[in-house]
Amino acid sequence: MFIIETPRLGLREWKDSDADVFIEMCADERVMEFFPSIQTEEQALATIERIKKFFAENNFGLWAVEGKDTHEFIGFCGLSSPKFETDFTPCIEIGWRFAHKHWGYGFATEAATACLNYGFDVLKLKEIVSFTSVLNTRSENVMKKTGMHFVKHFEHPLIEDGDRLRKHVLYGRRV
Ligand SMILES: CC(C)(COP(=O)(O)OP(=O)(O)OC[C@H]1O[C@@H](n2cnc3c(N)ncnc32)[C@H](O)[C@@H]1OP(=O)(O)O)[C@@H](O)C(=O)NCCC(=O)NCCS
Repeated sequence: MFIIETPRLGLREWKDSDADVFIEMCADERVMEFFPSIQTEEQALATIERIKKFFAENNFGLWAVEGKDTHEFIGFCGLSSPKFETDFTPCIEIGWRFAHKHWGYGFATEAATACLNYGFDVLKLKEIVSFTSVLNTRSENVMKKTGMHFVKHFEHPLIEDGDRLRKHVLYGRRV
């Protein structure tokens, strides 16, 4: 049932029962601090639909992450492709979002390490990147802890000039 397994986590396709926790996460200001805004229920459900569509088209994506002990959905981690155009796209990026109560246990780093390995070993990708607002140091730490290297700063093309979230860090890892 799991596509990727780690000692504590199972990564799988999404189930309908994940939606309630995901809606709650996306309405949590702590989880969404470095996004333009929190998401409404409708927006969170649309995000799940986009994730499922990406899976259907690519056979990989942002997997739902479940605690192996609790069988609880705790967030997502996986691979996707940014929609915007810039000098490092098209590319495959790794991303993560976990419910606040599951921060601080190393789950994001554990899941991300396994996703990077899957990307290189199973999908045979040559390079995986990750990016986030320069303000999102927790996310940048996950990049560092998974062996990704700082590439550069860049201005996110979909975020307006002057916006606090516009300046981003780009990290990457090659096979
Ligand atoms: C980014 C995010 C996933 C990071 O979560 P996280 O729990 O801090 O990340 P990690 O899995 O690396 O856990 C690290 C913490 O777990 C602690 N930890 C506890 N047990 C651990 C273990 N067994 N192994 C490793 N770390 C452990 C570490 O000491 C560290 O604690 P600290 O934050 O006090 O230094 C989380 O903040 C999040 O979901 N944010 C919102 C979504 C988001 O911004 N996504 C990125 C958008 S680009």
